[in-house]
Amino acid sequence: MNLGFLASHNGSNMQAVIDACRSGRLAASPVVVISNNVDSGALERARNERIPCFHLSGRTHPDPEDLDREIVDVLLEHDVNLVILAGYMKKIGPVTLATFPGHIINIHPGLLPEYGGQGMYGRRVHEAVLAAGAGTTGATVHVVDAIYDNGPILAQKKVRVKKSDTAGSLAKRVLEIEHELYVDTIGRIARGEIKLP
Ligand code: GAR
Repeated sequence: MNLGFLASHNGSNMQAVIDACRSGRLAASPVVVISNNVDSGALERARNERIPCFHLSGRTHPDPEDLDREIVDVLLEHDVNLVILAGYMKKIGPVTLATFPGHIINIHPGLLPEYGGQGMYGRRVHEAVLAAGAGTTGATVHVVDAIYDNGPILAQKKVRVKKSDTAGSLAKRVLEIEHELYVDTIGRIARGEIKLP
């Protein structure tokens, strides 16, 4: 399985998956990294790992259709067969969706379908969980479709919310389990235990 990553920021989920590939825990190869953020930690990690990486964004491709096509071209040129969104904060374009139907997955820092949808990402999810007084939160891996955080759920893991939690402390604990959950879920896909739609 050839993995292509799309990441916007730090890229710690991407790194966890790359580490699992390198150690042999995952029977998969990280083959390309794309980021919309030229200064992202994800691009720096890719360079450190000697994985081909590309900055593709509204700055490099002002026309959204051109950008969508370029993303697909780069993924295809690197023989990607599973697209991993790892903290990617942009919507996936229709050409990318049509080229990799059911083969784009995302990790979300909450228990979908709650606390998802447009504008609900990163720290905002944890703030909403705390504002609602929820006792449990967690992470979700799901298949990506044309609607934000909407596609079929593949796996979830729960995290207990403590009375003393802040959005920051919750983000840290959820991120730790995201790393485990993402590697585990990609492993189950690689072994055919999870069939992608
Ligand atoms: C992660 O918590 C991920 O779930 C979240 O952004 C963070 C990225 O961290 N993604 C979303 O909110 C997407 N809806 P990372 O860059 O260290 O992997």
